[in-house]
Amino acid sequence: MERWNLSTDSETETAKLGFCLGALIDRPLIVLLSGDLGAGKTCFSRGLARGLGVPEEVPIASPSYTLMNSYRGRLELFHFDLYRLSEPDELLELGMEDYLPGGGVAIIEWADLFTGLAQQYLAVRLSHEGPERRHFECAAAGSPALNLLQRWRRQWHKNSAGIGYG
Ligand SMILES: Nc1ncnc2c1ncn2[C@@H]1O[C@H](COP(=O)(O)OP(=O)(O)OP(=O)(O)O)[C@@H](O)[C@H]1O
Ligand SMILES: [Mg+2]
Repeated sequence: MERWNLSTDSETETAKLGFCLGALIDRPLIVLLSGDLGAGKTCFSRGLARGLGVPEEVPIASPSYTLMNSYRGRLELFHFDLYRLSEPDELLELGMEDYLPGGGVAIIEWADLFTGLAQQYLAVRLSHEGPERRHFECAAAGSPALNLLQRWRRQWHKNSAGIGYG
């Protein structure tokens, strides 16, 4: 499994990092997000949604109470927050397994509360490094996700300053 570690120094930079990834997504994908309360998972998800083409005027709210919000971008986006789920059964009732092979992108906050959510995925683990600094550990399982991780890293190193979002 390939890994990429980096840090961001602001909410804006985290949103840009998400945007950079979203802009590169061209096929179905599962993004497993983990990290403490306030680590920046929703901020990152919002950036990803914009990069995937969800229009700026569509608010990307945290799905903490709804469990899942969906959006239409270049691909359909399903934004989950599993924090309040206690049983994996509820997940299946929610139909997660039905959404994913259908050509959409799923981004799942608190994915580490459950195991076996996916076999092929991009995993992003956030942690606090300071008031405005967050650490990211990114990893991929499966060759499409691995390929995407490599493109994401390259693109970020090449042009993070030029990403016009956030
Ligand atoms: N580098 C940074 N990246 C992201 N957010 C940051 C950063 N520095 C400070 N922040 C602040 O941290 C908070 C992140 O909130 P966000 O809702 O994205 O976290 P979360 O991980 O989704 O939390 P929750 O577990 O409650 O869903 C915001 O208030 C944001 O302004
Ligand atoms: Mg959140």
